[in-house]
Amino acid sequence: MLKNMLMNRRYALWLGLGTLGAIGALAKGKAMYSSHKTQDFELAKNNFSIAGKASLKQRAAAKGLIYGAAIPRLYLSSDQKLAARLAQECGILTPEWELKWSAGHKPLRPSPDTFDFTAGDWMAKFARTHRMLLRGHTLVWHESLPTWFKETVNRQNAEQFLVKHIQTVVTHYAGQMHSWDVVNEAIEVKDGRSDGLRKTPWLEFLGTDYIDLAFRLAAEFDPKALLVYNDYGLEYDTSHHEAKRKAVLKLLERLKSRGVPIHALGMQSHMDGNEKRFNPKKLQNFLANVADLGLKIMITEMDVTDKKLPRNPVVRDRMVAAVYQNYLSVVLNEPAVTAVMTWGISDRYTWLSKFQPRSDGAAVRPLPLDSNFRPKLAWNAIARAFDKAPRR
Ligand code: G3I
Repeated sequence: MLKNMLMNRRYALWLGLGTLGAIGALAKGKAMYSSHKTQDFELAKNNFSIAGKASLKQRAAAKGLIYGAAIPRLYLSSDQKLAARLAQECGILTPEWELKWSAGHKPLRPSPDTFDFTAGDWMAKFARTHRMLLRGHTLVWHESLPTWFKETVNRQNAEQFLVKHIQTVVTHYAGQMHSWDVVNEAIEVKDGRSDGLRKTPWLEFLGTDYIDLAFRLAAEFDPKALLVYNDYGLEYDTSHHEAKRKAVLKLLERLKSRGVPIHALGMQSHMDGNEKRFNPKKLQNFLANVADLGLKIMITEMDVTDKKLPRNPVVRDRMVAAVYQNYLSVVLNEPAVTAVMTWGISDRYTWLSKFQPRSDGAAVRPLPLDSNFRPKLAWNAIARAFDKAPRR
């Protein structure tokens, strides 16, 4: 009896929970549907129509701007379709791995006293052959350091390694480089320093002046190249991005006040399709403050992670395109912005597949061309942004 009663109570409990669960799922689904409905409604307002058949590089050049992309040699040398579309759309090329200390399977710095320019030279030749400008990325970074770095470089010899690296690499490409990302990602406010500098081996061994030294060396060995400070996390209206914008501006002011040869700020612009905290006015003010220092601004690594967006590629593509449209319409209104580069050009090759995959396993769709190199709405959004941009 007791057992039956217990069974009935347990059954009743399961039934109740089940019903509650179903109501909850329905409500959640409805809420998601209605929020997507709202998003759909908002997105429906975006107009991605474009006129003519001009490529992105042609539309950019018509306004005195440059459009380009980053890609590793591994893909560029093995995928002819990629090579053709990249040459067709891009006026500038950033080797994604080849000019870092150590990235990919043919690193620039195999050992403490050797340099291997094979991969970098291949990329420079590709750019030359296709009449593209070339960007160097990056001379000084705390990531992609070779395995030998940790056990070899120390406080006593760090300056010698920094000087040797910049002198050898910048001299090797002198006259070929449109610009160098001299120092990459030197600010991390979460590290707690009053100057917002990231605690890297370079800071530990050489102090805050490592940044000044890097720029002075790059200018000495290639007086023609534009020298860029490159960083991410400057785009949104969040407390972290606001703090980072302040710290980056303070760094740029310090460098300029000391007569350090720095010419531009690189804003990586790795955007998040799910991030709604975007404040055009605040972004515009930041860009104007950087420009007031006499610096140019380059959008250096733009893409839009869609990992938290709906699975439906039609909805997802519209949401991603809206991010390109809304962001670029703000930044291209700042006359100091001279270039827009995406980090990759086709969804077939993007770092986000490995570093920011979708939990549902669907292929990510962050870039202007789809995985078969066909233009997506993101391509239209970038094209429209160039078409509407004031001429430089
Ligand atoms: O495929 C090779 C493998 O053959 C080799 O054995 C192995 C040895 O390390 O490397 C493998 O390639 C790795 C590649 O990702 C593919 O997984 C590279 O080492 C690794 O460096 C690379 O990660 C790159 C990352 O920077 C670190 O260098 C990403 O591709 C690249 O998109 C990413 O780009 C950074 C920018 O430089 C700075 N801004 C942020 C941006 C995204 O993180």
